[in-house]
Amino acid sequence: MGLQVTFTRIFLLIILFVWIRDAQGQVKVFNVMSYGAVANGRFDNSKALGRAWNEACRWKGTGVVRIPRGTYMVHPVKFQGPCSGRTIFLNQGVVLAPTDPALIHADNWIAFQEIDGLRVSGGGSFHGQGEKVWHLNDCHKNDNCKLLSTSLSFKHVTNGKIDHITSINSKMFHFNIYDNQKINISRVTISAPAESPNTDGIHIGRSNDIRITRSVIRTGDDCISLKQGSRGIYIRNVQCGPGHGISVGSLGNQEEEEEVRGLTVRNCTFRGSDNGLRIKTWAASTSNIASDLTFKDIVVENVRNPIIVDQQYCPHPPCDEGESKVQIKNVKFRNIRGTSSTKVAVSLICSRRIPCSNIDLHNIDLVYDGQGGPATSSCRHVNGVASGGEVVGVVKHLPRVYVLYEYVLNRRSLHARTTSAQIH
Ligand SMILES: *[C@@H]1O[C@H](CO)[C@@H](O)[C@H](O)[C@H]1NC(C)=O
Ligand SMILES: *[C@@H]1O[C@H](CO)[C@@H](O)[C@H](O)[C@H]1NC(C)=O
Repeated sequence: MGLQVTFTRIFLLIILFVWIRDAQGQVKVFNVMSYGAVANGRFDNSKALGRAWNEACRWKGTGVVRIPRGTYMVHPVKFQGPCSGRTIFLNQGVVLAPTDPALIHADNWIAFQEIDGLRVSGGGSFHGQGEKVWHLNDCHKNDNCKLLSTSLSFKHVTNGKIDHITSINSKMFHFNIYDNQKINISRVTISAPAESPNTDGIHIGRSNDIRITRSVIRTGDDCISLKQGSRGIYIRNVQCGPGHGISVGSLGNQEEEEEVRGLTVRNCTFRGSDNGLRIKTWAASTSNIASDLTFKDIVVENVRNPIIVDQQYCPHPPCDEGESKVQIKNVKFRNIRGTSSTKVAVSLICSRRIPCSNIDLHNIDLVYDGQGGPATSSCRHVNGVASGGEVVGVVKHLPRVYVLYEYVLNRRSLHARTTSAQIH
């Protein structure tokens, strides 16, 4: 423990130093204790943090808002830019969210907005205290439910870096990355129980060039969710589970959605999660495109749906019937191995109206050890290739004919065969 703390300190000094060396101008630390913060876990520190932020943000060099060790209650607060220089939010303590009924429905608990060159780091944690209010979330049965707060929200942030922080028991999403560019998230730990409602780990929308690496995400909802307008997203060395896996969508439920293009998920593991890799669109949907998605070197352990494309998404039936108008194309699944906890290990249910095109499955090695025989898969309206390793694939690119494949997975291998074809 002592060693670890020392290591963390040295490490923080190093990263601070590297950051500082890079930065233009002088560094100044704004310790929240000098702005009236009280670390007793009850006093509301939002004003103290706000004052420290305003000064750090005005500082022409690198302004560091520092929260030292200790436990700080913080009511909903927004850290607004633009700032004069770079700003670092260095949390070395435990920041606690309120549970008072009047404060739990704010859109965001801690929001960062319009900041270029923001860094959030420090080794500390953000505790949402969701366990005290999750029972108030009735969104699974009430469309007009009152949403609980997202823990950390980033909007119009550019060239940002979020690292070495922990988010615990968010009331709703842990992170919301909406309308941002160039943010690197690394060495972040996210945790909430499997049964906690809507606690997405990292929720991304309308953002470009977001990298998520070396992080551990255990939560109740999506590990990472990529909504409309997610482009150039790179996810590597992330461990997910429990939770609902890495999910593109749901798409097609809003007018004028932006497309999802360019996602790479690499060297990630999923343990005990509901899904591994998922793409979902509503059945009766608006138009959109999800393209150039690559999932590579993935290990799943005891995952319900390791690979799932669902273009009939309907979480709370009944839903409007119809066929999705979202085109899914250029998707690669490569080197995906491990165990499925259900018999259907690969499920590709695409739209009859706009079938999935150029779906490339290579080296899929998924095992099902439960009752009812070996793993299987089900596919509808998919145009693509299955190949590689022990995979036996049949591919037919027939013009104007969309081929329905049914895959039969044996213990160690995948056989693809055409069961029927449909003239379009
Ligand atoms: C994010 O990471 C990439 C790749 O390591 C790097 O090129 C880029 O400068 C980083 N961006 C920030 C804001 O740290
Ligand atoms: C893959 O991820 C694990 C941890 O999630 C890491 O230890 C390992 O170094 C990574 N391998 C590569 C080649 O990136």
